[in-house]
Amino acid sequence: MRRAVVTGSGGLVGSETVAYLVQAGFDVIGIENDMRSYFFGPEASTRPQTERLLEAYGSAFRRSRFATKMPSTRSSPRTEPGSN
Ligand SMILES: NC(=O)c1ccc[n+]([C@@H]2O[C@H](COP(=O)([O-])OP(=O)(O)OC[C@H]3O[C@@H](n4cnc5c(N)ncnc54)[C@H](O)[C@@H]3O)[C@@H](O)[C@H]2O)c1
Repeated sequence: MRRAVVTGSGGLVGSETVAYLVQAGFDVIGIENDMRSYFFGPEASTRPQTERLLEAYGSAFRRSRFATKMPSTRSSPRTEPGSN
């Protein structure tokens, strides 16, 4: 079977890419570390979308254990406008 790796698989582009590739017959491996929740808070988490993909395509989609880890503490990753 053809195999594809999708980075950011829980995001807008990534999740649509997963759906497209599964329907095209690929065995899809997603790499997703939910970085959105780190940057934008829990309401921006892509975890629910990853769970939907696993539920919908579980036989053809799986999440890699090799996703990069998020920092363990949230230390203001964004610079506020006007600051250095
Ligand atoms: N949405 C658009 O219209 C559009 C248009 C052109 C280009 N792009 C580009 O395509 C890419 C994806 O866009 P999107 O709208 O799907 O963004 P998104 O924020 O919805 O998805 C990105 C996903 O990548 C994950 N992620 C971030 N860093 C990661 C890491 N180190 N390891 C694993 N997962 C990680 C995030 O958690 C998130 O789920 C971006 O680079 C964006 O700039 C998007």
